[in-house]
Amino acid sequence: MENNKHAIYGEGLTRIFQRGSEKLYALRGVDFQISPGEIVSIVGRSGCGKTTLLNMVGCLDTLSEGTLYIGNTEVSRLKEKDLIKVRRENIGFVFQLFYLIPTLTAYENALLPLLFARRLDKKEKVKEIFQKVGLGERLNMLPSELDGGDMQRIAIARALVNEPKIILADEPTGRLESKSKEKIFGLFKKLAEDGLAIIIATHDLGLASRADRMIRLKDGMVVN
Ligand SMILES: Nc1ncnc2c1ncn2[C@@H]1O[C@H](COP(=O)(O)OP(=O)(O)O)[C@@H](O)[C@H]1O
Ligand SMILES: [Mg+2]
Repeated sequence: MENNKHAIYGEGLTRIFQRGSEKLYALRGVDFQISPGEIVSIVGRSGCGKTTLLNMVGCLDTLSEGTLYIGNTEVSRLKEKDLIKVRRENIGFVFQLFYLIPTLTAYENALLPLLFARRLDKKEKVKEIFQKVGLGERLNMLPSELDGGDMQRIAIARALVNEPKIILADEPTGRLESKSKEKIFGLFKKLAEDGLAIIIATHDLGLASRADRMIRLKDGMVVN
């Protein structure tokens, strides 16, 4: 099969966890696709499989069953070493708790992926990204000097520095008040207009319903 059209193409995505002698199906045959420029939200109550689905399509964890393409690369059967490359070249992660390093400035936090990728030669680009996420004036501030919305925008800047094609956001506004939520969603819109595929797992139905498409999970299955 070839996948020229979708940023992600997944069929029958299944993840089984072993609990003692029992099998727990965290995902049970989910079909999932997203195109470049699209925003898709994933909703459903706690434990329904949202994070597991993000971890699967983000190549942070391996499938028990199913077929998954990231762009043109079939990743379902890749080894960890090769998955790391696919992940680094394609995917940016954004989490509810930001995971910023408190002793580093906004700019230094966003620079970290370039450090790990040994691409500090590209660090000028980080300043452009800060303009894009609306934090141009806050480059040298510490996370503790900023509000939650700004902290999440630093985390988004950090997710963008390796020029991903896909952003995966797990409850990205879970810790934010409504004005900051608006700004974060507005930023996702802008990134989608640039052609990124954006997946947002969230409890927040108001936010989720503004995505181009909403997928509802229950017990590891899609229940639209
Ligand atoms: N690493 C793990 N080991 C065992 N069970 C897990 C693991 N991760 C998730 N699960 C289980 O899989 C199900 C789906 O979890 P999760 O994807 O975190 O749901 P959500 O993000 O929607 O709250 C839950 O029953 C959860 O307990
Ligand atoms: Mg979760």
